[in-house]
Amino acid sequence: MEPADSYSAYAPKRILFVDDDPTLARVYATVLKAESRNWEVRSANSGRQALELMERLTFDVVVTDLRMPEMTGLELLAKVREQHPHTSRVVLSGMRDQQEIARSLGDTHQFIPKPVKLETLRQALVRICNLDKFLMDPKVKALVGRFGSLPSFPANYLEIMEELATESPAIERIAEIVARDPAMTAKMLHIVNSAAFGLARTISNPLEAVQYLGTGTVRSLVLSVHVFSSFDHQVKGFSIEQFESHALRCARLARALMEHEGAPAAEAEDAYIAGMLHDVGKLMLAASLPDLYQEAERHAVEQQVSLGAAETAVFGATHASVGAYLLGLWGLPATIIEAVAFHHTPRHSDMRVFGPLAAVHAADVLEGEQSKIDRPMPIAGFDDIYLTALKVQDRLPPWRELARQTFPAPTA
Ligand SMILES: [Fe+2]
Ligand SMILES: [Fe+2]
Repeated sequence: MEPADSYSAYAPKRILFVDDDPTLARVYATVLKAESRNWEVRSANSGRQALELMERLTFDVVVTDLRMPEMTGLELLAKVREQHPHTSRVVLSGMRDQQEIARSLGDTHQFIPKPVKLETLRQALVRICNLDKFLMDPKVKALVGRFGSLPSFPANYLEIMEELATESPAIERIAEIVARDPAMTAKMLHIVNSAAFGLARTISNPLEAVQYLGTGTVRSLVLSVHVFSSFDHQVKGFSIEQFESHALRCARLARALMEHEGAPAAEAEDAYIAGMLHDVGKLMLAASLPDLYQEAERHAVEQQVSLGAAETAVFGATHASVGAYLLGLWGLPATIIEAVAFHHTPRHSDMRVFGPLAAVHAADVLEGEQSKIDRPMPIAGFDDIYLTALKVQDRLPPWRELARQTFPAPTA
């Protein structure tokens, strides 16, 4: 059913708190209301009341307690995902069980641990509300909001399943498979960065993520909760094999560029992950809307426009913004989201120093030059305005040389 009021990206963000303890719901509402004039905060004392309210008003975010009589928080969020998928879903949770939390991640975008620190809650809400800068169209937001996991390269999927089926799976081996698969990397970072895991900082390294969770949790997540799946679709114009190879090559080159420019090791690693994940929006669109994806490809070829322009014409958004929005909902680090969002148009970001965004942008263009795959549509090149603003336009020759060293031509 269509909500009674109309949606506007510029209106104050509407946040709904659901807690069976009316005092608590009122405390959150009052405190957050006092902190920001940009939020309109409402509260409900049960899942049923929340759903009734959501029929009348459009909410940007719903924040719910888990344990409530009649309808639990997770039951409520499953319904919200189905009926109001554009609304971001946050749980306030006292759950300590990693596996229980992880099982709920399909219906939940983020967890905030109880007892709630108001600053943590405020920051999470600010981050979610700010994602509107990447994606404003409620239809596209609904598409991304409903999405639970990304499909993997089938060979990687088989390999991880085989490793996990052994008597004592090796953690290094699991981490190594996860680290070369963009979908698995994204999901592991979603799980480990859920605030309920109690981390003081965000983790952007899949090896650290797998080590933190431990083999037991990863095993049950993969085998019983099915956080991974295999990309078995046939989508004309989309090759999962090429997608993975491009992601890995961009990741390696982005890190090499950062090292070449003397960036600190941690930033170079962020660039590697951002390179791996920069096109996940394509993967999501190809897996969830294969017909429209094919139409966008056709549109790009027929009209001789870039894929981004064709995606905007067909979906109303580019793979870059869809990917950034999805990873943002999943709580990935801001630097990575920024690099994903603007990898074709870095001049539109606020980032004005050489960092993971510039490295991923350059790696994407240079990888395209080196791989020499014939593409039937125009390919987006360097954003000269951005490179000039960063004063790195004279670095193209050494970067090109670095790309040649990173991807040596096969010897006959
Ligand atoms: Fe891209
Ligand atoms: Fe790309």
